Amino acid sequence: MAILEIKNLIVSVEDQVILDGINLVVRGGETHAIMGPNGTGKSTLAQVIMGHPKYHIDCGEILLDGIRLNEMSVDERSRAGLFLAMQNPTEVPGVTNFDFVKTAVQAHLLSGQHLRIGKFILALEDAAKELKMGSGLAHRYVNEGFSGGEKKRNEILQMKLIKPSIAFLDEIDSGLDVDALRIVGENVTAMKSPDLGLILITHYQRLLDSIVPDFVHIMIRGKIVKTGGRELIAKIDAEGYDWLKVELGIDEFVEKKKPVSLGTCATKSLK
Ligand SMILES: Nc1ncnc2c1ncn2[C@@H]1O[C@H](COP(=O)(O)OP(=O)(O)O)[C@@H](O)[C@H]1O
Ligand SMILES: [Mg+2]
Repeated sequence: MAILEIKNLIVSVEDQVILDGINLVVRGGETHAIMGPNGTGKSTLAQVIMGHPKYHIDCGEILLDGIRLNEMSVDERSRAGLFLAMQNPTEVPGVTNFDFVKTAVQAHLLSGQHLRIGKFILALEDAAKELKMGSGLAHRYVNEGFSGGEKKRNEILQMKLIKPSIAFLDEIDSGLDVDALRIVGENVTAMKSPDLGLILITHYQRLLDSIVPDFVHIMIRGKIVKTGGRELIAKIDAEGYDWLKVELGIDEFVEKKKPVSLGTCATKSLK
């Protein structure tokens, strides 16, 4: 069973703090939802965990099964079992979807294992069918000219074939019509197992009705300010986030950016 541990993570970009001390543990079999107003650092968290080079880790550790990921490259993290379905999937002109997924699956094989191409083709076709994706998408360039919904399904297609142990799905529901949302929800739910820890970043209850979370976290100003169960989703759906301004004693969710302070790590206490 995989375990992802995020310990006191402080992250900056261009010397401005974006994540301000995140602590989170995700175990295989668990589904976590991260909610929160725009611009509070949800996508940044997913990108940092995956190893985006733009972000600087000022403090803290990311551990997968006890192994420190901080210094690992994106592909090493992917081979270690992490996956990110991006909020805005990237287009890769000149590379077909088929070659892209095949290369990714090949890269995840253990040394000495070889890709059995016939088996791979069948698995790809099955996954595309389950996601109700047209078969032609395999031979088109990755995400180029795909509709918003096709791009999101394509992220799930990759996830089905790569079989990660910890997966972040960043607004996988944005841009999906009702039918596509149901299909994505069913496919992700079918993947739930003790071997998969899921982190869903979303604004909407409708996704979480379909992929039911065990824990709900609210992120504000780069911090997880509240953790609870599904009652939080209903409250956010009914009331938005303004009640948190009162609770936290703040006027705005997006604060003026703070510069990184020297000795940041030393001054933050581990939760
Ligand atoms: N690469 C970047 N360069 C500059 N600012 C960034 C970058 N990535 C994120 N930010 C800033 O960090 C904050 C959090 O962004 P983001 O993580 O995308 O928020 P969310 O996903 O919660 O809406 C925003 O103010 C955003 O402008
Ligand atoms: Mg985002």
